[in-house]
Amino acid sequence: MITHDIIIIGGGLAGLRAALEAHNRGTDVAVISKVHPIRSHSVAAQGGVNASLVHDDSWEAHALDTVRGSDYLADQDAVEVLCREAPERVLEMEHWGTLFSRTRDGHIAQRPFGGAGFPRTCYAGDRTGHNLLHTLHEQVLRARIKIYREWLVTRLVVDGGRCTGFIAMHTPDSKLEAFRAKATVLATGGYGRIYQRSTNAIINRGYGISLAYHAGVPLQDMEFVQFHPTTLLGTNILITEGARGEGGYLYNNRHERFMEKYATGMMELAPRDIVARSIQTEVDEGRGFDGGYVQLDITHLGEKKIEERLGGIRQISIDFAGIDPVKEPIPVQPGQHYSMGGVSCDANGATPLEGLYAAGECACISVHGANRLGGNSLLETIVFGKRAGEHAAGYVQETDVQGENAHLDSLASEEQNISDLMGGDGESFAVVRDELRSVMQQDVGVFRNQAGLQKAVETIRELREKGRNVRVKSGATSFNFELLNAIELKGMLELGQVIAKGALAREESRGAHYRTDFLERDDEHWLRHTLAYQTPEGPRLEYKEVTITQFQPKQREY
Ligand code: FUM
Repeated sequence: MITHDIIIIGGGLAGLRAALEAHNRGTDVAVISKVHPIRSHSVAAQGGVNASLVHDDSWEAHALDTVRGSDYLADQDAVEVLCREAPERVLEMEHWGTLFSRTRDGHIAQRPFGGAGFPRTCYAGDRTGHNLLHTLHEQVLRARIKIYREWLVTRLVVDGGRCTGFIAMHTPDSKLEAFRAKATVLATGGYGRIYQRSTNAIINRGYGISLAYHAGVPLQDMEFVQFHPTTLLGTNILITEGARGEGGYLYNNRHERFMEKYATGMMELAPRDIVARSIQTEVDEGRGFDGGYVQLDITHLGEKKIEERLGGIRQISIDFAGIDPVKEPIPVQPGQHYSMGGVSCDANGATPLEGLYAAGECACISVHGANRLGGNSLLETIVFGKRAGEHAAGYVQETDVQGENAHLDSLASEEQNISDLMGGDGESFAVVRDELRSVMQQDVGVFRNQAGLQKAVETIRELREKGRNVRVKSGATSFNFELLNAIELKGMLELGQVIAKGALAREESRGAHYRTDFLERDDEHWLRHTLAYQTPEGPRLEYKEVTITQFQPKQREY
């Protein structure tokens, strides 16, 4: 049995920031990750991180943009924390070594981003996540924080109403091990790969979120799924909003800058939910190109600027679509990108389960409400990663390591679960997973309606039945990816069910949740957060109030 004061599950930005903070506060902290930390999905973030750094801007303006962007569902006290702490966290990353792009006079360069009233997105070309992640990884190595690489956490252990650690499988030899901790921090990212089209890495299957759900923690606002407007046709790799921030245009098949019809003021820089819906409408109404896409044109920016600021997406377009954006437009379509919902927690990352914290995309604090602004997710990782590490470090001063017997029991039952999955004739995980992805894409996508959502709920219920018969044919004991996929499938199905059920229940349109049968936002009935609890019959939904401080809900106009 392995024991630490605090163990962080996940080696991306939120996890590493939490680890560093807990370490700096004198605790024995370790990180456990499914992959090497620098392969975490944070590395793929492109466009930037928001912070009000200059006099003409303010954290209050950032907060107002964030709350409007959220379609007033964000908790405003949490948004205030996010925006107030942003400058300090970004400057700290710079001092630790992040190579931000610069203005001519040497300040951190900032670009316009969707839904923002001020150019406040700090960037490192279009490889901002890469730069930030390497910076934090260096700091974690420097602090000699223990990292357990290539371990899949399979379940949390709860004893006496407290999370006392977890069971994990070591991928290189498929051995299970019990890890005990006074505090456990989930920082496992999103679930994008339950959709067919997603910008997310294949590791983003949402398993961390489902671990909390199983342990009795409610999932909050899961029906709010962000679709990024511009993902590369074919692979759905992210084509950063920074391309539009730098002056890129969107064209339909009539060569019209169609955003003029949908967001006359902000055009291509309207918030993501609006731009994604606009593109999908153009495609659905026959003004897209064959294959279901529109064009993102940056040719007028010129090779020098494109290389300097958008070199990553130029290379991606060449490598994955054979298109050089210096010479021709990029074919783009909306794709799942981010989860506004997640494990319900407060602004210190504390979940309702004692000893369990959450930070980053897997968490719902909620600072993004119904629609996140670009540049606020990288920010969330460093602001709330730090806070989770700080508060977990405080908590462990007053508590002991517990749960030895519960860990031994859980280890034995996980060994049995895995042996039950192995061998014999059964369903292939891939068949069930692909059916899930297909129904999520078709019926729980950019546009939703009652019939489609009901179909999705029913289909996923059937898939969960089918999922019980999944068996692993490969007997490999080293890097058995069929086994890893089979284990994670259960969580993917559960998250799909929570998302679809929450979306079916929410009879309004708000932010990224757009119901063609309930076109208006309905504050009277739906200005509230959804909480989904696991039960044997499927998710039970409850609701809770939204915290409003300074900004009364208004109609969003862009
Ligand atoms: O478009 C982008 O670069 C994505 C940024 C974000 O999701 O915050």
